Amino acid sequence: MYKVAVLVGSLRKGSYNKQLANGLAELGKNIFEFNFLKLEEVPFFNEDIENSPPAAVAALKKAVQEADGLLIVTPEYNRSMPALVKNALDWCSRPVGGSVLGGKCVALAGMSPGATGTAVCQSHLRSFFGFFDVRHMGQPEIYLKYSPDFFDAQGRVADEKTRKFLGGFLQSFSAWIEDQSA
Ligand code: FNR
Repeated sequence: MYKVAVLVGSLRKGSYNKQLANGLAELGKNIFEFNFLKLEEVPFFNEDIENSPPAAVAALKKAVQEADGLLIVTPEYNRSMPALVKNALDWCSRPVGGSVLGGKCVALAGMSPGATGTAVCQSHLRSFFGFFDVRHMGQPEIYLKYSPDFFDAQGRVADEKTRKFLGGFLQSFSAWIEDQSA
């Protein structure tokens, strides 16, 4: 079973993207071991301390390093990614020679109350994946519009067709990781 580190780009208690990440974890529980990254205590990146980072950063980097894949589930902020996501990736990319992102399999998903469903944010993320040397799964793409009935009372993705689609996304990610490790 592959290990997947999950980077949720919102600290908000009622975050739709956190709910989506939980929904994906429920759908993928038989194919992945999910580890939700803890970002609450991660400070802003500071190059002065990149060689001896605080415990929260060391734990973040270790969790990403140990994972077979990185799943980023994030909202879009101002037509780009939240600083939370960029900051976590900046830490993971440093110091030079100490990046935990090189060769990592990455997949993206996002949810917004707006109609574009985080598409611009994901496009910005993809634009620097080459620099990180990650192996990014291009398809299927996941751009979701939040509606109050998207999740059921247990927090599961409610609609059967959507469950199937998201289940297919997770199967593709598993196959992508397998291909890339061959
Ligand atoms: C937003 N929101 C937003 N939505 C969107 O579709 N495109 C955008 O560019 C933005 N920009 C934006 C900036 C900032 C600073 C905030 C706080 C919000 C709305 C956003 O999608 C909404 O607040 C989501 O609920 C945030 O995701 P979580 O916290 O529910 O996961």
